[in-house]
Amino acid sequence: MGIGGSDMYRQQILDHYKNPRNYGEIEDATFTHVGENPMCGDTIEMDVVLDDDEDTIEAVAFRGDGCAISQASASMLSERLPGTSIEELREMDRDDIIDMLGVEISPMRVKCAVLAEKVAQDGAEIYLGEKDLDKTRTESDDPDVPE
Ligand code: FES
Repeated sequence: MGIGGSDMYRQQILDHYKNPRNYGEIEDATFTHVGENPMCGDTIEMDVVLDDDEDTIEAVAFRGDGCAISQASASMLSERLPGTSIEELREMDRDDIIDMLGVEISPMRVKCAVLAEKVAQDGAEIYLGEKDLDKTRTESDDPDVPE
């Protein structure tokens, strides 16, 4: 799978990959956004429900197609995001995602790891009118994403 780290974390990633949490759709989500890793074409689409103040994430669902890292990262993030404020979401970076995954990620695989995070962040910013984007791409001009 191209990742290092302890067996426990590797097992956890495989478990999230094989049994993704919150996989599916949420009808009447506050916003939905999609992203892809252009290197491989793998995708994540995410539905997010915000609370009435549009301040805190209440629920997340996702569907996607891709490698174990990208899909496990989306699954773990879907468990972590409910209860998180939009501000906290915006402040997340790749180190938070790598900590969440608990394994060493090679530079090539960082794009896989951060795809779901980027989809959630871009989706929120588009919803708030701060960004205009059809689809998130984990491009290398993003400081979070190495070449
Ligand atoms: Fe495509 Fe990981 S190989 S997202």
